[in-house]
This record gives sequence, C-alpha cells and structure tokens, in this order.
Amino acid sequence: MSTHNNQFYFFANWKMYLDFNEANILAHAIASEHKQFSANVKMAIFPNALSLYTAGQTLKDVGIAVGGQNVFWEDKGGYTGEISATMYQAAGCDYALVGHSERRHQFHETNHEVRQKMQAVLESGLTPVLCVGETLKEREDGKTEEVVEIQLRSALQDIVWPTDRELIIAYEPVWAISKGAGANEAGKHCDDVEAERVHKMIREFSAGLIKLDPVVLFGGSVRPPTTDYYLRQLNVNGILVGAASTQLESFMGILSNIK
Ligand code: PGA
Repeated sequence: MSTHNNQFYFFANWKMYLDFNEANILAHAIASEHKQFSANVKMAIFPNALSLYTAGQTLKDVGIAVGGQNVFWEDKGGYTGEISATMYQAAGCDYALVGHSERRHQFHETNHEVRQKMQAVLESGLTPVLCVGETLKEREDGKTEEVVEIQLRSALQDIVWPTDRELIIAYEPVWAISKGAGANEAGKHCDDVEAERVHKMIREFSAGLIKLDPVVLFGGSVRPPTTDYYLRQLNVNGILVGAASTQLESFMGILSNIK
C-alpha cells in the first residue's frame, strides 16, 4: 500500500518537449479521455510556461492541476526572462517544481537558490514539488543518502510550512532520468529495492524537519510497464514522469497501470 490519503500521485513534467500547439493538442487529447480517470489518482501536469495557461484551462475542467517547471524567488522587477511564483499562481497553477535535477545540473542551481525558491513558492500559495537526487558519481561513491539529506535539509530546515500545504518530495536519481524504456537495464534504471530504500530515508528525514508525513514521488524513466513496479513499494506514493508523459498512448498507459 503506497497511497497517500488513499491517492496515488501521477505528476507529468513535460519539460521542453512540446511546443505551444503540441502541448495544447495533448492537453485536449488527455482531457477527452477523462472517463478513464480514477478518483484515486491525483494528477498534475507541468507544461512549458507558454502553454501553461491554455493547456491548464483544458486540464482543469477534467480535474488535472497544472504547475510551473521553474520559478524565480523575487515577485516582480528587473529580472529578464524570469517568472515569479506569484505569476504562476495568477495564471492558474497549483504547483511548482523546485530544484529539478536539470535545473541543478544544467543551470547550476544551488541548494541556496532552491531554498529561496521553496520560500517564494510557499508564500505565493502554490505547493512546491521539491526534487532531490544524487548523480551517478555520488551514487558510486556511496554518497546517495548524504547528498539527499543535504538537499532536504537546506530546502526544508526551519521553513515555516503553511498548514494548508502538502509536503511533496520527488526522488529523482539523476543517473536514472531520461534513459528510455526497459526497467532493470543494468546501470540505467533505478530498481525497486533501491528506490524504496531512498524513499524510506526521505520520508523519515523530511518528516523530522517538517512535522508532516510527506508524499514521496519517484522519477526516472518511468514507463507504462514499470509504473506498478515502483508503486508497489511501501514508500512510493506516486511518480513524476517526463518523456513518457508527453505522448497520449504512454500517458494513458501509465494511468491504466496505476491500480
Ligand atoms: P523522465 O523524466 O521520465 O523522462 O526520465 C523524469 C523527470 O526528470 O522528471
């Protein structure tokens, strides 16, 4: 049993895979399948910022929330190219990803910046989805727990957590992201035992920092056939899916594999 409040979480990060038209077409296609949605699956989609508003209008009608992929911590001002948490909130978002590994590693986002973003997201009224995870080198050096604990502590310690907000953490081992189909391919996919071990640690460690039982999602090349593989684990409450969520067939395939 890995539901949280009797729900599994299926969060979809569309990254920079779909342009404005493609995102809106997919949002409509997903919405038209709403009869297949189940009350025990909580869904949110993170489209790119340009398509978020229009796709969000379509998705919200069928009970799917939307969120921003990245926020800036200031509210307004001379920050060319940035979008604040309050702006996402005003455009209809409920969530924002914070500290995704692609932001940390490709855009050199630091733990300190992740903390500033967490604070801004909470103040705006959105729910942050805090992403944590170790690189391949850190894993090989046996530092997974240490790295994840540092990420959690710097993002959460002494933060004032609003009583109306869930604590959602996504464990995304960097080495397992964007690896294509086929679970258990040696060295490429995080196996269920390893995922469960880190999820348990995340649950216990973060519950010690914020007095809440967190929702802990797994992310890293989840595909329709591997959905249940992860969700069977006691401490996996849901999944954060990238590539496989950007096509109708695999999106619906994942959904139908959430039992
Ligand atoms: P992936 O992405 O499913 O394409 O590996 C997951 C993520 O980075 O959120």
